[in-house]
Amino acid sequence: MRRLRDARRLTVLTGAGVSAASGVPTFRGADGLWRNVRPEDLATPGAFRRDPSLVWEWYRWRRAQIARCQPNPAHRVIAEWSAREGCRVLTQNVDDLHLRAGTRGLVRLHGSIWELKCWDECGHPAWRDERLSPDEADQSSDTDRPRETEFGRSCPRCPACGGLARPAVVWFGESLAAADVEAALTACDCDLFLTIGTSAIVHPAAGFVHEAARRGAFTAEINLDLTPASSAVDLVIQGAAEDVLPTLASA
Ligand code: OAD
Repeated sequence: MRRLRDARRLTVLTGAGVSAASGVPTFRGADGLWRNVRPEDLATPGAFRRDPSLVWEWYRWRRAQIARCQPNPAHRVIAEWSAREGCRVLTQNVDDLHLRAGTRGLVRLHGSIWELKCWDECGHPAWRDERLSPDEADQSSDTDRPRETEFGRSCPRCPACGGLARPAVVWFGESLAAADVEAALTACDCDLFLTIGTSAIVHPAAGFVHEAARRGAFTAEINLDLTPASSAVDLVIQGAAEDVLPTLASA
């Protein structure tokens, strides 16, 4: 506990488990499946090239699900910590719930489901688009969200060149933004590295806790289950992020 309390430079890495209590399905949990299709088969450039409508259908379903979710106590504790000097937050989550909780300086390693970019890479910068299709918007508890009309059921288009738009997320087989990797590696220079709610199998994010340990950080994992990182970290806290983090924060 003293190691946790005395850390001046804290880095937090989060995964889907942090948003589970908000109602966002994890990727590898039983509820994460969609029509028995694995994310690894849909979230790829090859899948989009083959069938952009199918991939958009999946993302529309996920956007509608996420639109109904609110940040939970784990997001709120991390947001409070992020206001302190020396705290850095890296996330693999594309739901933006950390942002909605007010997290500062967030590095979104895998992008955001609420941002789009041109599939043809015409040069138009990524843009924010939080619209839902009308049937999905009706199910959303968030009544402030703009109602969708032309996002509809067809694939969204790039406003600059008219080509297909895609979610501005990192797909399997794609590289993370160089600036994000650099920010993450800088954040590995810390006193305490917390890896929270991630299955610790998707690289490069899964490697950052090992890099932090190599640089001398005390490392801890908070997860409901054991992961490949469990045997490498200094401390394993088996529990739900939304319970453990408020307890740690109050201690
Ligand atoms: P996973 O779905 O692989 O893992 C979620 C982890 O959270 C598991 O280890 C669960 O045990 C744990 N968990 C579930 N509920 C929890 C809770 N309430 N508190 C604490 N832990 C809990 O999700 P990620 O590790 O985030 O990539 O997946 C990594 C990447 O793989 C994702 O960012 C995504 C995915 O394919 C891309 O989209 C590129």
